[in-house]
Amino acid sequence: MVDPTPSLHDPWIGRSLPLPNGFVTLRKRIARGGFSSVYQATSRQHPAAVKILAPPYQGLSPFQQRLRREAELLERLAGRGAPRLFGVGEFDGALFLAMELLSGLPLPTGPLALPEVARLGRALLDAVAPIHRCGIVHRDLKPANLIRVGDTIRLLDFGAACEVGVSADTAAPLALNTPAYSAPEQSVNTPPDPRDDLYSVAIILFELAAGRRPYLGDPVALLEAHAAAPVPSIRTLVPALPAAFDALLLRALDKSPRGRFADAEQMRAALQRFL
Ligand SMILES: Nc1ncnc2c1ncn2[C@@H]1O[C@H](COP(=O)(O)OP(=O)(O)O)[C@@H](O)[C@H]1O
Ligand SMILES: [Mg+2]
Repeated sequence: MVDPTPSLHDPWIGRSLPLPNGFVTLRKRIARGGFSSVYQATSRQHPAAVKILAPPYQGLSPFQQRLRREAELLERLAGRGAPRLFGVGEFDGALFLAMELLSGLPLPTGPLALPEVARLGRALLDAVAPIHRCGIVHRDLKPANLIRVGDTIRLLDFGAACEVGVSADTAAPLALNTPAYSAPEQSVNTPPDPRDDLYSVAIILFELAAGRRPYLGDPVALLEAHAAAPVPSIRTLVPALPAAFDALLLRALDKSPRGRFADAEQMRAALQRFL
């Protein structure tokens, strides 16, 4: 969530925190989520972003483990589709992660014209493909975790991310993702599969094209809808869209990963005709 409250009296502002290879100085709070706050910062003259666990979670090992895992995965990605990791540190009992600050714009809100949806979808899959090639599944793709940098999209928030095929329990303790965008199999703790992310990309594309998501309701209703409700045709909302686009979404939103596109490259190729 983008921080709506001023950060003037935040005790972290102005602090310099130690990293293995230097310091990072916090300048301004940019977001406050449920479990952590994110600050704009500088490290050796470079713009940085620092994610710090919120006070109630600072001493709790599952949350520390989650932040450490996020750092490990960012390190492995080395900037591919994601911010570069600057380092992990601890200050005053609070664990923090310092990374590259990405400056850009949020995703636009729909309904957008189909070529624009296809361009954004292609940019998104161009960020997703390299993380999958590194053996990582993001598992929490949604507009709040994406940033548009020029013509590209970069992925933020690897807090729910896992290694492919590792049991989700051990891979990501407290993988708390967002029911509105998550694939049905994610709610039953199946081993992470890159096709989980392709489902979330399809929900994002649906929302960009129609101005609303395919399923609405409270978290429990959403879990049930992802698991069992027939996929609504986007043409009931936007009749002018071609049947082929409907078919693309239907495939990517298949309840079973086996029914979806095989990988991000294949889904990208299918979007190409709508540019
Ligand atoms: N590296 C970064 N560069 C720029 N903004 C960032 C960066 N990391 C996070 N943010 C901003 O902070 C918000 C919260 O960060 P996120 O990692 O999603 O935390 P949470 O786990 O609390 O959702 C993001 O939605 C984004 O607006
Ligand atoms: Mg987030």
